[in-house]
Amino acid sequence: MDRNLALEVVRVTEAAALSSARWMGRGDEKAADQAAVDAMRKAFDSLRIRGTVVIGEGERDEAPMLYIGEKVGRGGADDPGVDIALDPLEGTTITATGGQNALSVIAIAESGNFLHAPDTYMEKIAVGPEAKGAIDLARSPTENLRSIADAKGVYVEDLTVVILNRPRHERLIAEVRRAGARIKLIGDGDVSAAIATCNPASGVDVLMGIGGAPEGVIAAAALRCVGGDFMGRLKPRNEEEIARATKMGIKEIEKIFRIDELAQGDVMFAATGVTDGDYLKGVHFFAGGATTNSVVMRSRSGTVRVVESVHHFERKPMYG
Ligand code: FBP
Repeated sequence: MDRNLALEVVRVTEAAALSSARWMGRGDEKAADQAAVDAMRKAFDSLRIRGTVVIGEGERDEAPMLYIGEKVGRGGADDPGVDIALDPLEGTTITATGGQNALSVIAIAESGNFLHAPDTYMEKIAVGPEAKGAIDLARSPTENLRSIADAKGVYVEDLTVVILNRPRHERLIAEVRRAGARIKLIGDGDVSAAIATCNPASGVDVLMGIGGAPEGVIAAAALRCVGGDFMGRLKPRNEEEIARATKMGIKEIEKIFRIDELAQGDVMFAATGVTDGDYLKGVHFFAGGATTNSVVMRSRSGTVRVVESVHHFERKPMYG
């Protein structure tokens, strides 16, 4: 993949973030998501790629735009064929309520390199580079915390674990508390939490618990780029979700996927903050424009670029 593509992709996440940020705190999740989808779809037309959405807004019959299988980009026969995992607005409720850590994200890989994850749940564990190789979803949360603490050279009591605040996590939360680790309960946004494990300044060491499976693939792509670690196991809620996973080519529903089985090969990742968060600042508006804060990274080089942009709407009406 052309390394400059990573820098081009950030325009697409910026466009989605700028549009959806207009809906911050306005109590309308659907409108915020739609604004992100519309802007992202339009911005894709500026990219010289032959992209296929493999993780997107849903199946073709449920999502009019950025659906799974949709072709994006203006590339011709000579341009690279790539697979795209995207979430125009990761954190619809966060945005609608003016909370923290809403992002617009895109990951790109060569064709066939992302797990085609169905829209079901996934049990996840994510850590930063210092604890790479120290996690195993087959082990208990307590065992994982001990081995992460060992790898980081700290006590379990020093670790901060992010968990989505959901009734389904009652037992997990009780176990992590018994183990002695600190917990940060979040309302939404486990992609942002997974990425935060790679940023020592975030104070977050581990993400644990069950969240969206598509978000799991996107988080794995991001962590591949920064040398973190991730494991996921699908948690379908019913027979219909199992059938959907099987149809998407997953043979073993109980399988624990390693990071490089979720996102293989050369991967690129771009994210732009919609609302302020642990890792990225959100969109800030000023008279006639706005600033955005993004991150762009590539697995091949491990380079992480932080992109601060100033947008002037009178010159770039698409962002208005
Ligand atoms: P949306 O942006 O689609 O609302 O997803 C937010 C999110 O919190 C994800 O970060 C997380 O993986 C998933 O929802 C958790 O799902 P649920 O809200 O059903 O527990």
